[in-house]
Amino acid sequence: MEQNELNRELIRFIEKSPNSFFAVKTAAEALDKAGFTYLFEGDRWDLTPGMSYYTTRNSSALIAFRLPEKDLLGFSIMASHADSPCFKLKPNFELKAEDRFLKLNTERYGGMILSTWFDRPLSIAGRVMIKTETGVESRLVNLDQDLLVIPSLAIHMNREANDGFRFNPQTDLLPLCGVSSDSLKTLIAEACGCEYEAILDTDLYLYNREKGTLLGQEGLLCAPRLDDLQCAFASICGLIESKPGRSAAVCALFDNEEVGSGTKQGAAASFLRDVLKRIADARGFSEEDFLRSQRQSFMVSADNAHSVHPNHPEKADPTNRPYLNGGIVIKYSANQKYTTDAVSGAIFRAICEKAGVPTQTFANRSDMMGGSTLGNISNTQFALNTVDIGLAQLAMHSAFETAGANDTAYLVKAAKALFCASIESNGDRYEITYSQE
Ligand code: CO
Repeated sequence: MEQNELNRELIRFIEKSPNSFFAVKTAAEALDKAGFTYLFEGDRWDLTPGMSYYTTRNSSALIAFRLPEKDLLGFSIMASHADSPCFKLKPNFELKAEDRFLKLNTERYGGMILSTWFDRPLSIAGRVMIKTETGVESRLVNLDQDLLVIPSLAIHMNREANDGFRFNPQTDLLPLCGVSSDSLKTLIAEACGCEYEAILDTDLYLYNREKGTLLGQEGLLCAPRLDDLQCAFASICGLIESKPGRSAAVCALFDNEEVGSGTKQGAAASFLRDVLKRIADARGFSEEDFLRSQRQSFMVSADNAHSVHPNHPEKADPTNRPYLNGGIVIKYSANQKYTTDAVSGAIFRAICEKAGVPTQTFANRSDMMGGSTLGNISNTQFALNTVDIGLAQLAMHSAFETAGANDTAYLVKAAKALFCASIESNGDRYEITYSQE
């Protein structure tokens, strides 16, 4: 696919994915179109060699996989996250002010740059649970219209607004609703196709309505939620383009990375291990065979990275300086906030070289803490050589982020090479073979 077309596809993916529920739905639609078969975790799985499948958990995390045609060596995995920092509606979210304004009571989900959420059209999307004759049923809801705004306080009423003002999420950040309470209820009820009274509970989130865009010809891509939908999108594209190899190709989109991954659908849960175990069982692996497969497997934890900032070059490490459009960023941390070590870094470089994809490196300045991601968390469930990587971006956790337009294609290529790769090891040596040139 041509570069601009690929990024327009990414922008459409992001638009259709206001939060993790919809990112999973959008990814599932792409997988359905590519001939993957959906499996419900609660069903018995009947897996056929050479075929491709996906399953979801909580409707907000997804694992897709392509099986080898013959024997199963191990697993070639890429994992990213489907959630992004935003605001969640609390129960009883309607809040009247001055007897005329309708505000919504929200709380923070994850660590966003609060100032970026002011003065822009917002909407609501998520999951509602409705009452049925015999129980309850889940429905996804996207109101999909400009509906809310978090208005700034005028500079005349807050002279400190430009002097590092501290925002209070309970007072400064509550969105003002553009419709009445009754109309809002009607909109939600219509969107889920039921009476409002039938709604028993909700997981509803705010999202930024601004559309993604390419800035001029210099390869700048701006959009909401690039962390981590750029990686999620590229990994799904890479899996769809891959051919079955000796190892199973596995693409995971986890939820709740932004709040520590500690949920049943997060990287700390058994989701990935459960899926791998069922693949292994289908091939008649014993418990020992399954444990052995950890040494013949490799994982790429893909979560966006920080580019050197043009206005703040001093914030970047002196010798590890990733840039937008400079290729895939391999992340290092001595304290293992990132899982990369010499082994996983080298294997990933070899795969990128094979794919003709440039790489660069990231490490925090030694006097800065930096962030964390899902690689080391996932390793507590299934322990395998893992590399932490990402695409360079600016303004991480802003409501509108900036990344390199050329980097999307680099990650699609690297993901495809990984999913075609089988990595066989005797402990010291790693032989990498590919199912596709
Ligand atoms: Co991230």
